[in-house]
Amino acid sequence: MERKIKIAPSVLSADFSKMGDEVKRIESAGADIVHLDVMDGVFVPNITFGIKMVSDINKITDLPLDCHLMIVNPERYVEQFAKAGANYITVHYEACKNNLKNVLLQIKRAGVKAGVVINPNTKVEKIENIVELCDMVLVMSVFPGFGGQKFISEVLDKCVKLRKIIDEKNLDCLLEIDGGINEATSKLAIKAGCDVLVAGSAVFSAEDAKVAINSLR
Ligand code: DX5
Ligand code: ZN
Repeated sequence: MERKIKIAPSVLSADFSKMGDEVKRIESAGADIVHLDVMDGVFVPNITFGIKMVSDINKITDLPLDCHLMIVNPERYVEQFAKAGANYITVHYEACKNNLKNVLLQIKRAGVKAGVVINPNTKVEKIENIVELCDMVLVMSVFPGFGGQKFISEVLDKCVKLRKIIDEKNLDCLLEIDGGINEATSKLAIKAGCDVLVAGSAVFSAEDAKVAINSLR
């Protein structure tokens, strides 16, 4: 079973004062996807950027844009992120709860690939019967909010479980992991069945982004 591993650098660790150059830099270094961490200061204790940033980045890159929405009531902004050029929109189970299915359908109606994210302390069972609706499932390997945190290895079991569900049902769904990914933890994540590795600090603080991306892959 050959899985093609995709690397999605998170621009959270980029220099925001030269965002365009930073995106170009990871694009030429071989990134597969650009991971955009949208934070509202309510769902997580940090604030980043929103729709305009996505739209401006969309103008300068051909890479797919993966918008990780760490915001409450994400359904309020789905259409705007879609219009801004998001290729994937992932929403947190913890932010949607009972409304999750509706939000995923709303994302798809907007013409965007839909994903669900679970925090380190959320069990796979909570989203098990919704995986079939997803183009992507994102397992957080840190508590969301900040780059540069330590990988929580307990989440690897959840990746194994999700990989099994995706394969058994033969779903067209990517398994993504986010937080604390470096040369050592990337190996564990790949072994646990992940397809997409998000990496912020490991890529942006590396001397050579190309070397960093290749070593994660
Ligand atoms: C955390 C974000 C991550 C973060 C990862 O809330 O969702 O995407 O940028 O950063 P690193 O790779 O440094 O842990
Ligand atoms: Zn993220």
